[in-house]
Amino acid sequence: MNSLFPYDVMVIGAGAAGLMCAALASGRGKRVVVLDHSDQPGRKILISGGGKCNFTNRTVTPAQYLSANPHYATSALKRYGPADFLDLMKRYRIAFHEREHGQLFCDNSAADIVSMLMSECGAGGVEMVLDAKIGAVTGDGPFRAATSRGTYEAAALVVATGGLSVPKIGATGFAHTLAGRYGLAVVAPRPGLVPLTFTGADLDLMRDLAGIAIPAEVTFGKTKFREAVLFTHRGLSGPAILQISSYWLTGQSITLNLLPDLDVQARLLERKAQRPNAQVETIVGELLPARLARALVERAGLLGRPIGQSTNAALAGLARLLSQWPLVPAGSEGYRTAEVTLGGVDTAGLSSKTMAAKSHPGLFFVGEAVDVAGWLGGYNFQWAWSSGWVAGMSV
Ligand code: FDA
Repeated sequence: MNSLFPYDVMVIGAGAAGLMCAALASGRGKRVVVLDHSDQPGRKILISGGGKCNFTNRTVTPAQYLSANPHYATSALKRYGPADFLDLMKRYRIAFHEREHGQLFCDNSAADIVSMLMSECGAGGVEMVLDAKIGAVTGDGPFRAATSRGTYEAAALVVATGGLSVPKIGATGFAHTLAGRYGLAVVAPRPGLVPLTFTGADLDLMRDLAGIAIPAEVTFGKTKFREAVLFTHRGLSGPAILQISSYWLTGQSITLNLLPDLDVQARLLERKAQRPNAQVETIVGELLPARLARALVERAGLLGRPIGQSTNAALAGLARLLSQWPLVPAGSEGYRTAEVTLGGVDTAGLSSKTMAAKSHPGLFFVGEAVDVAGWLGGYNFQWAWSSGWVAGMSV
């Protein structure tokens, strides 16, 4: 088959941003074709949020995004925000609920969101070409894409192929490579929202504690998150760790505060005066899960010691470990498990009003392909909806 058909808009990538863009553009009367190498649209939507898709957040501001240009996302988020997406959900009667930190999830299934976007695309007559291996992309308005299912041509090209996270379900660096071919800069991509890995004595300790989750505060530089931290067989995970991983830089340390609401040193000294015969691990075990308490007391060299026989200096050392535990991750679990890709097409070359390349007005980049990555909590889908919507309005 070798179909050459002139469309107004060719969207590459049938994910969150691409489907939103195609729905919008087709609703405006544009003839739209969507190409994807997967045989199923919206695969990441389907697996997100444990199958319930954390599709946005009650409060979305540019402060919840990382980008070389922190202002780039502002315009799109303002023009199409959480309330706009909720209006669309309500039109389709998709029930949702709010969890902690303003996170919004589907009541039923993430599949409801994919169906909704596909219905919107269907209503606009979007041609969906799935299972299409994309070859050379050439031209500059019109753009041409040679695929395993024919050659497609359109006046505008929207690149919505996402980032590198989770290659198992079809993530590729297609957008970054294509951007480079059109002379656009790419901010070096790296995994974000990803578990951190450790080696040596830290890993030995974490492995023994695998499965324990506690609320904690984790800090990198001036950035801190207070959420759950989970010990794993490879190191640390849980929402607080995923959040900080997007800020963490290789070779540097993060700091864990396991008891952020307590003056730990004062508490230990108080107990020393009140219950001198109690063992240190018993006292700490009243504050933390017993296994964790024991491991940290052992690391501080106070295991089996009555608190009354522990020096104040040793207790101060233990307090530091409990409230300012410095840890240097060896690395991260990488793109295999990362929820997002940091970096991507440099926003300096793009218009924040349209998502088009400044040097190629018919070429648009949306979603995770761009150097905009959100926190955990629905922010990445909101960026996909907002940037897809803006491009859909501009093509
Ligand atoms: P997306 O990845 O959705 O779509 C890209 C599309 O391009 C895919 O259909 C892919 O097949 C296609 N494609 C890629 N390369 C191609 C090529 N070479 N040729 C043709 N097609 C190609 N975010 C959030 O806000 N809330 C959440 O609950 C979650 N949960 C979550 C769980 C997991 C496990 C992951 C991995 C990620 C999340 N995320 C998330 C992040 C969120 O899924 C992500 O940011 C958005 O899906 C990005 O939308 P895009 O449309 O940009 O890319």
